[in-house]
Amino acid sequence: MVCPSNLTTATAFLLYLAILLNLVSAHNFSELFQCNWAPDHFVDEGDQIKLTLDTASGSGFGSKRKYLFGKASVQIKLVEGDSAGTVTAFYMSSDGPNHDELDFEFLGNLSSEPYLVQTNVYVNGTGNREQRHTLWFDPTIDFHTYTLLWNHYYIMFLVDGVPLRVFANKEEATSVLYPKNQAMGIYGSLWNADDWATQGGMVKTNWSYSPFVSTFQSFKVDACEFSPENGTVIGKCSKVSQYRWDKSAMNGLSKHKEEQLRRVRENHLVYDYCEDTVRFPEPPKECLN
Ligand SMILES: *[C@@H]1O[C@H](CO)[C@@H](O)[C@H](O)[C@H]1NC(C)=O
Ligand SMILES: *[C@@H]1O[C@H](CO)[C@@H](O)[C@H](O)[C@H]1NC(C)=O
Ligand SMILES: *[C@@H]1O[C@H](CO)[C@@H](O)[C@H](O)[C@H]1NC(C)=O
Ligand SMILES: *[C@@H]1O[C@H](CO)[C@@H](O)[C@H](O)[C@H]1NC(C)=O
Ligand SMILES: *[C@@H]1O[C@H](CO)[C@@H](O)[C@H](O)[C@H]1NC(C)=O
Repeated sequence: MVCPSNLTTATAFLLYLAILLNLVSAHNFSELFQCNWAPDHFVDEGDQIKLTLDTASGSGFGSKRKYLFGKASVQIKLVEGDSAGTVTAFYMSSDGPNHDELDFEFLGNLSSEPYLVQTNVYVNGTGNREQRHTLWFDPTIDFHTYTLLWNHYYIMFLVDGVPLRVFANKEEATSVLYPKNQAMGIYGSLWNADDWATQGGMVKTNWSYSPFVSTFQSFKVDACEFSPENGTVIGKCSKVSQYRWDKSAMNGLSKHKEEQLRRVRENHLVYDYCEDTVRFPEPPKECLN
């Protein structure tokens, strides 16, 4: 056994570096999450977890704790080949009928047809705020990073660091509610949604390709942990707005991010509820500037 006093400066430095690196590296899945649906369809491989779907069941996981504001990201490699009818989700949600929820839903498709990414925001139990985008890569070949950033100013959905969508807090200017009071858990799941997911439900899941598998890795949570015991955030977040993602400087996007968002919208947006005059003859208030 090495006595601490025998550590050379170099070794001590390396240890210090390791601790530092560990702070910014991904979390161990079981440290923060657990399977919460169909353990027999869930595979924990340490660094990666696999959700599987067959005729018997899909599968899912959830965080052990809840968070009030923060940033959560994960890398996902989606169901490959014929994934029509399947939906892989990465989302945050609070509990109860008037819940808040932030969704990434990856809608599968026939082999070589594009996935769609559907995003949605629920506030106080009301969603109906879908946007759909195509991706600029094949999400089944490699892992890509999907991030939910939730601060006092906006909710941002990012793909490999590029903003796909921003839902701004317009609560003061309008009567549109913004999620801010309910702590949310962080979740992932894979399930059968062939009644609506692919080409509006026209293409059904072809079970001869099951089990379908989505793989998740590199879980990163930089968020304000909420204590259910006393109803307050704990740790670093107990000091208001001390997190870099919640500083007032974050009130608005950088020029670069604005430009990225504009280009994604121009090239990849295929559906926006704000422009769906059949569903909403009067545009929803948050869609007006
Ligand atoms: C992850 O954490 C669990 C529980 O703390 C531990 O049993 C497991 O060995 C860890 N796995 C890795 C890859 O660090
Ligand atoms: C949330 O919804 C519930 C029930 O629909 C309603 O009673 C409540 O007033 C809503 N909360 C806010 C802040 O509007
Ligand atoms: C699936 O592919 C078809 C044909 O290219 C496309 O119209 C559709 O948007 C794609 N995605 C989904 C989820 O249906
Ligand atoms: C399902 O996939 C199998 C294997 O490729 C194929 O033979 C069959 O026609 C497919 N079923 C449907 C309904 O497309
Ligand atoms: C709230 O509870 C947590 C444990 O869940 C504790 O760490 C924290 O100190 C408590 N805060 C207050 C203000 O009581």
